[in-house]
Amino acid sequence: MRKILNPFITSGYISEEFFCDRENESAILTKSITQGNNIAIISPRRMGKTGLIKHCFHQHNFSEKYYSIFIDIYATGNLREFVYTLGKEIFDTLKPRGPKFIDQFFAVISSLRPAFKLDTITGQPTFDIGLGEIHQANITLEEIFNYLEGADKPCVVAIDEFQQIAKYPEKNIEAILRTHIQHCKNTQFIYAGSQRHLMENIFFSASRPFYQSVGILQLKAIEKQKYIPFVNLHFNQANKSISNELIDLVYETFEGHTWYIQNIFNELFALTEKGEICTLDLVKEAISNKIASYEPLFQSTLTLLTERQREVLYTIAKEGKATAVTSAGFIKKHGLLSSSSVQTSIRQLLDKEIITSENNEYQVYDRFFGLWLTTIFGTGYRMEIV
Ligand SMILES: Nc1ncnc2c1ncn2[C@@H]1O[C@H](COP(=O)(O)OP(=O)(O)OP(=O)(O)O)[C@@H](O)[C@H]1O
Ligand SMILES: [Mg+2]
Repeated sequence: MRKILNPFITSGYISEEFFCDRENESAILTKSITQGNNIAIISPRRMGKTGLIKHCFHQHNFSEKYYSIFIDIYATGNLREFVYTLGKEIFDTLKPRGPKFIDQFFAVISSLRPAFKLDTITGQPTFDIGLGEIHQANITLEEIFNYLEGADKPCVVAIDEFQQIAKYPEKNIEAILRTHIQHCKNTQFIYAGSQRHLMENIFFSASRPFYQSVGILQLKAIEKQKYIPFVNLHFNQANKSISNELIDLVYETFEGHTWYIQNIFNELFALTEKGEICTLDLVKEAISNKIASYEPLFQSTLTLLTERQREVLYTIAKEGKATAVTSAGFIKKHGLLSSSSVQTSIRQLLDKEIITSENNEYQVYDRFFGLWLTTIFGTGYRMEIV
């Protein structure tokens, strides 16, 4: 097994040991599956949807009982790519089970048979097909569903970044998928997505095929009371120490947003020497280091915006959370042009996913970007324990 150099993981899932809490959420997800209900997980990006699904799949009870298949369809742009991604993942899940399973796979999903190749060097079976070789995605999809339904154990298919299907060019994609899914007896689905309005449109609009077909789990930040002991434990295990006040400070700075706090504690863990106690200066250094590492990306994001969009973005970053952004008071206070131009910029920034809105409150989506904007804009971020 790979040796873990830093217990604060910033990508992927490794094991329970490095995963904090999510007990309630795991229970909801698992119960939903055992009760035969499909479920959708919605949260802002980087809150921990993928981690939660992988964590549940990883549980012994779960992996004993189900074949779990996880696909991320963020990079897919049409039904054919969806079918390819799903087919390949099922193949890769089965591969370790041996030639008999692979034979069965291609017997049922015969349209994917050309994808079966033997690696010329290792002799291992591989799945390798040109997308162009999937001639009728609809037929392959049907075969895949037949395969899942005929499996010798129940299957759970998690589709990450599910909102992507709403962007496929095929008009009836949701209806096609829904029809297949509706008929499944042996297969259940978890849909995860971060673009809330797209996900909600799929599941909450009465005119859409997936309307009311799932339970919804809105994933929030890990509770502070759970996260503090998690950080303490990993510092202590490495003979390092950090006060609850500093953990609290980092947690609050990013409102517990999982990926951001994991990144800062990853850096803090690296900066704190064995036998040493973490200090406020190290916290400041960790945040600066992290932000600096993304600076080129932030700069190029800014250059892609118009001057009006930048003005509005700076203003929102400065406020942290901005409300009543089109009011006369707000426009005057920040020297903006007009209510209508602010409205236009807000819409464009929302479309580009640079800002988010929750209950008419606007915020810069990427929390490191938000802090960076305040530093380049003069005021800087305050980092003090109160
Ligand atoms: N419970 C947890 N404890 C510790 N780290 C976690 C936990 N959940 C997620 N993480 C870490 O936080 C980061 C973000 O999590 P994840 O990728 O699951 O988020 P996501 O909601 O799927 O994001 P995206 O919408 O961008 O796909 C990952 O690096 C993951 O390792
Ligand atoms: Mg994810």
